[in-house]
Amino acid sequence: MDGYSSNDISQVVEADRAHVWHHLSQHKPYETVDPRVIIEGRGMRVWDAKGKEHLDAVSGGVWTVNVGYGRESIANAVRDQLIKMNYFAGAAGSVPGARFAQRLVEKMPGLTRVYYSNSGSEANEKVYKMVRQIAHKHHGGRKWKILYRERDYHGTTIGTLATSGQAQRAAQYGPYPDGFVMVPHCLEYRKQWDVQNYGERAADAIEEVILREGPDTIGALVLEPVTAGGGVIAPPAGYWERVQEICRKYNILLHIDEVVCGVGRTGEWFGYQHYGIQPDFVTMAKGVASGYAAISCTVTTEAVFEMFKDDPTDTMSYFRDISTFGGCTAGPAAALENMRIIEDEGLLANTTAMGARLMGNLHALMERHPVMGDVRGKGLFCGAELVADRATKEPLDEKRVQAVVADCMAQGVIIGATNRSVPGFNNTLCLSPALIATPDDIDQITDAIDAALLRVMG
Ligand SMILES: Cc1ncc(COP(=O)(O)O)c(C=O)c1O
Repeated sequence: MDGYSSNDISQVVEADRAHVWHHLSQHKPYETVDPRVIIEGRGMRVWDAKGKEHLDAVSGGVWTVNVGYGRESIANAVRDQLIKMNYFAGAAGSVPGARFAQRLVEKMPGLTRVYYSNSGSEANEKVYKMVRQIAHKHHGGRKWKILYRERDYHGTTIGTLATSGQAQRAAQYGPYPDGFVMVPHCLEYRKQWDVQNYGERAADAIEEVILREGPDTIGALVLEPVTAGGGVIAPPAGYWERVQEICRKYNILLHIDEVVCGVGRTGEWFGYQHYGIQPDFVTMAKGVASGYAAISCTVTTEAVFEMFKDDPTDTMSYFRDISTFGGCTAGPAAALENMRIIEDEGLLANTTAMGARLMGNLHALMERHPVMGDVRGKGLFCGAELVADRATKEPLDEKRVQAVVADCMAQGVIIGATNRSVPGFNNTLCLSPALIATPDDIDQITDAIDAALLRVMG
């Protein structure tokens, strides 16, 4: 690792242990073992404080670094932009903000407007606020409720946790605000209805909730195109067509949360584009600038935008929202270069090809390991659900799932698993390598899982 002595690094680890509160972590073990500190990254690989090399099969842990580590061209684009103009509040425009918005909506037919903020949670909260304000302005206060789906996740703020379909993420942080209503998940492997056309049936379950609540109370439905942390769930055939139909029937705005799937992860620019649906809102964050700068986008239609553009003498009628750092120019500058890389390097096609290889390898592993109950996903976004018994589908004990993850880590391959998500169902291994993955990278990932399963399952 360039630029650091071992003395520097051990001081960093001690400072981290003494002062940093890590995300989503119990800190008691750090009294006896070192917290993990990642020092450097290049391409698909990262090096930790001990100098150990790892192949990163989860793009920065949480499916973010889509174009891989060490991209000088993104760093240069950000540097040049910061020297020219680093920040002005988002009530004004910026050069990269305008350019990226234009480039982005070119890839999203039917959508025209981009609202900038900094995180996936924030981008989703913007939609919830827009839906609430539309209810006040256009529906006499009705249509204020927002539907969300069991197993989906939309963020960590109190507002977005109110739409958490993952009980363990929401537990102990309530009470939550009113008006957020859950609909059933659509994971056929854990089926809730014994029917032929599961996709349509699962979508019909949304209509049942709408009728129970009253269609005139519901303003929007938020869904992940492929559920991420709730178990990597690609909806069954027939689901999306029916969802779109239901939303149109009851005049419910469709909000697709592309925070994970957006910007190439599934092999299309956006996950929803696999399914031919037309959303009213699309939110995105992680892959937009691959973690080189903080940026999120709430993208919507001209029809939604027009609902906020009216009498200029009414001081309360426009979208009265601000995100201070939504005015940072580093985000759109990085996002523009990130998008250029995906285009020039053909990374969507690579994602489709490498995703097929990953899925093929996982199916081969399934033949060898009865513990792999189901594999699923789209593009370079795959999950493998581990079960104690294939016949009963009893989930594998979480400690053993984590042991598989730890074994891969010991082999120098970082994989993920659903974590503090759905009680009793934190049993899905998660894979989301960068879109630059090669066949060798993919094989190294699945070889590591193969070896780990042999060791952990005996
Ligand atoms: C689908 C989805 N939406 C929203 C979020 C929240 O994004 P952030 O952590 O940037 O607030 C996440 C984070 O993992 C996510 O997976």
